[in-house]
Amino acid sequence: MAYSIAIDGPAGAGKSTIAKAAAKRLGFIYVDTGAMYRAMGLYMLREGIDGDDEETQSARCAEAQITICYEDGVQQVYLNGENVNALIRTEEVGKMASAVARNKDVRLQLVYLQRALAERENVIMDGRDIGTYVLPDATCKIYLTASVEERGRRRFLELRAKGIDCDLEEIKADIEARDQQDMNRDFAPLRQAEDAVLLDSSDLGPEEVVEEVLRIFEESCE
Ligand code: DC
Repeated sequence: MAYSIAIDGPAGAGKSTIAKAAAKRLGFIYVDTGAMYRAMGLYMLREGIDGDDEETQSARCAEAQITICYEDGVQQVYLNGENVNALIRTEEVGKMASAVARNKDVRLQLVYLQRALAERENVIMDGRDIGTYVLPDATCKIYLTASVEERGRRRFLELRAKGIDCDLEEIKADIEARDQQDMNRDFAPLRQAEDAVLLDSSDLGPEEVVEEVLRIFEESCE
């Protein structure tokens, strides 16, 4: 049986940074499920489909063939044969991803892919519903969070380091709006699984968080 570590939590909690580093240490595959929703969001944006138009999203989501492969250990997301890794990290795509992620048909299509990956390999998978819905029997589950102040500050510094002009208050408002949308949708909303360990990284550096994740994993294997 393959091992699986589920990491869920709100936007900007550092899930991908931590999951990537922990996967490297353990020799596991890192599965970034947010990237799959982002690829679906990109498809809907390109097709001019509205974020609130559930009916059209349901009718057309199967047109978006989303596949994953790994190049030098880095996850690559393909949308209908095109590598879209470099196109899905914008705020516009992130917002659309959160909007289309409310749609049950979209979710079922992507969850199928996520479960298939976890069946074959030892994975550390991050997202919003991994511990509660995608992998209910994961070897260990972690709910990684941090205060909105801290998540906003990190995102602000990240954008500034890339030379992108931004406003801290606006970033915090966007993060809160996305969390509300992800927590309040009907199907598989963001919440902490009953058997997940809560890890608040507000006052911890990335190395400390990775160590804590590895410790929690080892403990759950005992
Ligand atoms: O983690 P991220 O910012 O790349 O995710 C983008 C959006 O995708 C997020 O706001 C909600 C959605 N998402 C989801 O609903 N379920 C997941 N397992 C992963 C992401």
